[in-house]
Amino acid sequence: MRAEIVSMTADRLDEEAIARAGEILKQGGLVAFPTETVYGLGGNALDPEASKKIYAAKGRPSDNPLIVHIADMESLERLVTEVPEKARILAEKFWPGPLTMIFPKTEVVPFETTGGLDSVAVRFPSDSIAQAMIRAAGGYVAAPSANTSGRPSPTTAQHVEEDLGDAIDMIIDGGPVGIGLESTIVDFTEDVPVVLRPGYISLEMLKETLGEVRMDKGLISPDSSIRPKAPGMKYRHYAPKADLAIVEGETDAVVEAVNGFAAAADERGEQVGIIAAEETVSRYPKGIVKCIGSREEEETIAHNLYEVLREFDQCQVSEIYSEAFYTPKMGQAIMNRLLKAAGHKIISVQEEKEKC
Ligand code: TXA
Ligand code: MG
Repeated sequence: MRAEIVSMTADRLDEEAIARAGEILKQGGLVAFPTETVYGLGGNALDPEASKKIYAAKGRPSDNPLIVHIADMESLERLVTEVPEKARILAEKFWPGPLTMIFPKTEVVPFETTGGLDSVAVRFPSDSIAQAMIRAAGGYVAAPSANTSGRPSPTTAQHVEEDLGDAIDMIIDGGPVGIGLESTIVDFTEDVPVVLRPGYISLEMLKETLGEVRMDKGLISPDSSIRPKAPGMKYRHYAPKADLAIVEGETDAVVEAVNGFAAAADERGEQVGIIAAEETVSRYPKGIVKCIGSREEEETIAHNLYEVLREFDQCQVSEIYSEAFYTPKMGQAIMNRLLKAAGHKIISVQEEKEKC
């Protein structure tokens, strides 16, 4: 079976195709669809068999829970036993939008959807195609990112087709997504809200709205024995086929070090991959150099990250070196994904110099 691909734009919905997508989902089938963050792989969240199909299509470990997508606030009440006041404040401010919140679940939500957990992750996306499709499907769509497990999340319908074209019923092509990194996840099952995955909505934005908010300890020290609370955050993820390392330090030192790796590879008759910002991209004479975006407009870096990682899979490189992008607003989210893609391999050029 090859997935049917239908195209539409957010301001010109194809109502007939949306109705068909809704029907496929109600019958237990799978439909990939755009959201403002990344493309999702949707199935009926209240149907255990549909959730099992999602895990199978992605090759995803079944202990890694799915996010339930809704298209109105009333739907939330059916899924969760209680909504704390602070969560209502966040919903008011950031929904619909790139925010996922975790609550204790009701029995309406099958354990197949939550990976066996008593809690459920819920998101109300702002993308109008996503909203229309969720409504057509009956209101509750479980959707992980629509990539094969372990690969970079899809930011275009073509990425979805590459990974899952043979495994699902329909792909709704709504063009490239806006943000390019998955939603911020905030856990409301403990006394203080905890960020389990950083995203476009930063820790600072959450603190401004709520006061005390913690970052999951498993994210801050990912190499320690503390496991991230979101099961999905423990896997090596977003990984390109080549070995990726992040080179960090003062700009000139980073450029010099990366050029050194490129020159050494050149002598062996090989090429390295290089991921650079617009501001430095012209300073790398050797290797396959890809511009990820501008430090001045950090959303561009978030937007292009997964595309660049996927593009390197088409290139003959066995090593990729990336600059670090600790930008002010989205730096936490960008570096969280980049570090995971690199299996936390960091080359610190200052440290190297100190050792000499
Ligand atoms: O932006 C997004 O959130 C995208 C789009 C499609 O909406 N979806 C997405 O889903 O990124 P996925 O499945 O790739 O990531 C869901 C993350 C995983 O790390 C999972 O472990 C965590 O959410 N998660 C889901 N339910 C959870 C729960 N009850 N407790 C803790 N973590 C949970
Ligand atoms: Mg994912």
